[in-house]
Amino acid sequence: MACQNGLTSYPEVVAELGPGNSLGTGLAALIAGANAYYALDVVEYAGNKQRNIEIFEELVELFKKRTEIPDETAFPRLRPYLDSYEFPGQILSEEHLAWALHPDRIGSIKNALLNLNNISGHGIKISFYAPWYDTKVIKNESVNLIFSQAVLEHVDDLTSTYEALYRWLKPGGFMSHEIDFKSHGTAKEWNGHWKYSDIAWKLIRGKRPYLINRQPYLTHLNLLQKSNFNILCNLKIKDHSGIRRNRLALRFKNMSEDDLTTRGVFIQATKAK
Ligand SMILES: C[S@@+](CC[C@H](N)C(=O)[O-])C[C@H]1O[C@@H](n2cnc3c(N)ncnc32)[C@H](O)[C@@H]1O
Repeated sequence: MACQNGLTSYPEVVAELGPGNSLGTGLAALIAGANAYYALDVVEYAGNKQRNIEIFEELVELFKKRTEIPDETAFPRLRPYLDSYEFPGQILSEEHLAWALHPDRIGSIKNALLNLNNISGHGIKISFYAPWYDTKVIKNESVNLIFSQAVLEHVDDLTSTYEALYRWLKPGGFMSHEIDFKSHGTAKEWNGHWKYSDIAWKLIRGKRPYLINRQPYLTHLNLLQKSNFNILCNLKIKDHSGIRRNRLALRFKNMSEDDLTTRGVFIQATKAK
């Protein structure tokens, strides 16, 4: 998707917000050719070294065998659907893979995984911060690609987070975010989280380190525009089955019809050069 939306070079430095249970996607980025990966979470879910090593070794095999991407029959709820699920050989050419998958390089990535936050051979480094709260964990204008999957709907301080994303990206840097606006089990309707008053919501959240921030699509769009990102794609998933406007809590009463029926979005954007 990034290539389709204008990413033209192999990203060297990548960062992920909220990797969750494993560092798998970042490891895939390193295998594909990146040399630095930052993983930033609020809870250290992905701290299991053995599990990360197993996932890493499975990923290396998938790359070596040029395995197809699992399609919508394997993961029907995973969006966006792709035009093609073939191994992206037009992006990861044989010449590039011969370099990227060289056993010495793969050994250096594994070593970096065993020695987080230390530089390994080939200049490869994996930095994992959980919790991360200081934007200084990443140098300004040092990252080529930032991504997140099902994370930005959880972030409490979206304004500073978008500012941080902007600050970390190099001019011309690229970002990709999938945002899931569903109620995450807090209501039976997909958009039922917007019916609760602030007090009821505080009780529902309790002492959890994060839940969902209840911000709709437009909040993200405004923050992206305010931070001066150029939006390259915003694929919305629409759903008209949820609660109607008359059931919205006071603070959401003025929500647009588009937000009320937007269940998810896949956004890619760049920072101007
Ligand atoms: C639904 S999980 C998604 C995990 C993973 N990206 C995936 O697709 O499986 C949400 C993740 O966001 C993380 N998260 C919540 N607030 C965050 C924040 N402010 N900064 C970074 N990560 C955050 C959570 O700890 C959790 O790992």
